[in-house]
Amino acid sequence: MDTLAEINTKGFAEEFIDPTLDLFEEIEKLKKEKNAVILAHYYQEPDIQDIADYIGDSLGLSQQAAKTDADIIVFAGVHFMAETAKILSPAKKVLLPDIKAGCSLADSCPPHLFNKFKEKYPDHLVITYVNCTAELKAMSDIVCTSSNAVGIVESLPKEQKIIFGPDKNLGAYVAKKTGRDLVLWNGACMVHEIFSREKITKMKERHPGVKLLAHPECEEAILQMADYIGSTTGILNFATKSTDQEFIVATEAGILHQMQKDNPQKKFFPAPPEGNCACNDCPHMKRNTLEKLYLCLKNGLPEIFVPQHIIEKAVLPIERMLEISAKLGL
Ligand code: 13P
Ligand code: SF4
Repeated sequence: MDTLAEINTKGFAEEFIDPTLDLFEEIEKLKKEKNAVILAHYYQEPDIQDIADYIGDSLGLSQQAAKTDADIIVFAGVHFMAETAKILSPAKKVLLPDIKAGCSLADSCPPHLFNKFKEKYPDHLVITYVNCTAELKAMSDIVCTSSNAVGIVESLPKEQKIIFGPDKNLGAYVAKKTGRDLVLWNGACMVHEIFSREKITKMKERHPGVKLLAHPECEEAILQMADYIGSTTGILNFATKSTDQEFIVATEAGILHQMQKDNPQKKFFPAPPEGNCACNDCPHMKRNTLEKLYLCLKNGLPEIFVPQHIIEKAVLPIERMLEISAKLGL
């Protein structure tokens, strides 16, 4: 099939790909022809990270999406990230290799229920973690990411009452760090809730001196054991600057690719999950493949659309986040 592909029921443009094609070369060619930029999150598969123009955490990716002069943004990440890019650059075409690449955390906060929750606290400011739908952002006062959540809360007056959603683990971590009493929505990420404290303890015994690096979406029991807590970029930078040689990494396993590339002499162990599953791989992030990335760039779909009335409201809390982050030097 050589005509424009339709998005199939599985959520991506499907057509036969000539197996003799070098997809890396083809993607580079298409990028130049179409003036496209590829933004990828650290949880993407290694091939996608290697071909991306920019790899980063959620804050870095939003900053790139806001300033790119490309005509097309191919967002190798999940739906809420591509939506954020579209909200920040509404005139650009934003593509997501697999339209079904969602997020369990965003799904744990349906906008109509959050709206009812919010109504119970009329004098509270609403801070939402970027891992949520565009509709939720449109109901918020400020958006945050894992790298600026503490700084954003601290930038507000001490007496300001705050609702924080949808991630209860990040919310509890921010409350503890800032000493603020936040009203939390009860949401969580399926990947960051599965790490086993017992297995990490055993690993630490086997590797004396190994450092535990954890994402703040992890549960309190894991964060209590951590030597460093931060966003994916924070974790990567900490490991690179550290003189330590061995690290257990409690976040989605995709980050290990870049950590190992930047630090070939150091050892990185993915934090073990409860049970024997591969559940520290995010099934949503891993829906994107190099093949789907190629087809999406070639065919110009699947494309992300956000209704204009949502864009107009959701852009304000995202811009507020970017302004505060810039002031904080993030
Ligand atoms: P950061 O890359 O901002 O740390 O976020 C992690 C995450 O869960 C993205 O889905
Ligand atoms: Fe969502 Fe968790 Fe996957 Fe991040 S790792 S995209 S928060 S499900």
